[in-house]
Amino acid sequence: MAKTLAVVNQKGGVGKTTTAVNLAANLAALGQRTLLIDCDPQGNATSGLGIEKSKLEYDLYDVLVDGLALGDVVRADVLFPGLDVVPSTLNLAGAEMEMYQDLARETILKKALRPVAALYEYVFLDAPPSLGLLTLNVLTAADSVLIPIQAEYYALEGISQLMNVVERVRGHLNPKLGIAMVVMTMHDERMNLSRQVVAEVRAYFGDLVAQTVVPRNVRLSEAPSFGQPISLYDPKSKGAQAYADLAQEVIALGK
Ligand SMILES: Nc1ncnc2c1ncn2[C@@H]1O[C@H](COP(=O)(O)OP(=O)(O)OP(=O)(O)O)[C@@H](O)[C@H]1O
Ligand SMILES: [Mg+2]
Repeated sequence: MAKTLAVVNQKGGVGKTTTAVNLAANLAALGQRTLLIDCDPQGNATSGLGIEKSKLEYDLYDVLVDGLALGDVVRADVLFPGLDVVPSTLNLAGAEMEMYQDLARETILKKALRPVAALYEYVFLDAPPSLGLLTLNVLTAADSVLIPIQAEYYALEGISQLMNVVERVRGHLNPKLGIAMVVMTMHDERMNLSRQVVAEVRAYFGDLVAQTVVPRNVRLSEAPSFGQPISLYDPKSKGAQAYADLAQEVIALGK
């Protein structure tokens, strides 16, 4: 069965999508069959991998609300052999309201994933910046959580709330849910502040913090507008090196 990683932080713009896209692309390039499910109505992971949202017939909304099989929405071999994507579009913005009607509303994604999970080594779930029903579905469907944290002021703001939600999901919906790793993003090594924040996060999370710290790198912010992961857009950049290293850390976590 696939190892399913939820990329979650309710704070916006901390590097969730950048981390999900680039880890998924690197793992696929290493021969690991990988599925990336875009669970955010913004659809940034979808467009960041060059999928044209306006041309899609189906997306995750049709799975979560209309019960379409997830396998029927999968786009196979996106940019790399072995990188499959379930896209999302703004359609998904209406999904939470409709999902509330469902008595088993937190387990819809988990059930949809079950028939395809055996086809993959890794499944990444890119969560939206909220702790709403989509994110509860993501946490319920996952084996473990990967938390990107931006090396900025207030980095740990909201983290105790996030940990409470993880704890509640573990208690009620998904007893095996663990924290896989915490990833520091957009680190600026010239700034004392960035270094202090990394130290603060390491004090809070200990060994859960990845050794690899992702630097602030302009090439990482350019790549999505070309519809490419950093490993294609600029494989020699510092950002590409960081996500290559981080992919090795994910593999080293084991199953
Ligand atoms: N290491 C980095 N260096 C420079 N820019 C980065 C880096 N990581 C992410 N960015 C840029 O910062 C912005 C936010 O990143 P990203 O979209 O990955 O965050 P997010 O947590 O998914 O956001 P949201 O909460 O809106 O889904 C994007 O424009 C992205 O290209
Ligand atoms: Mg995002």
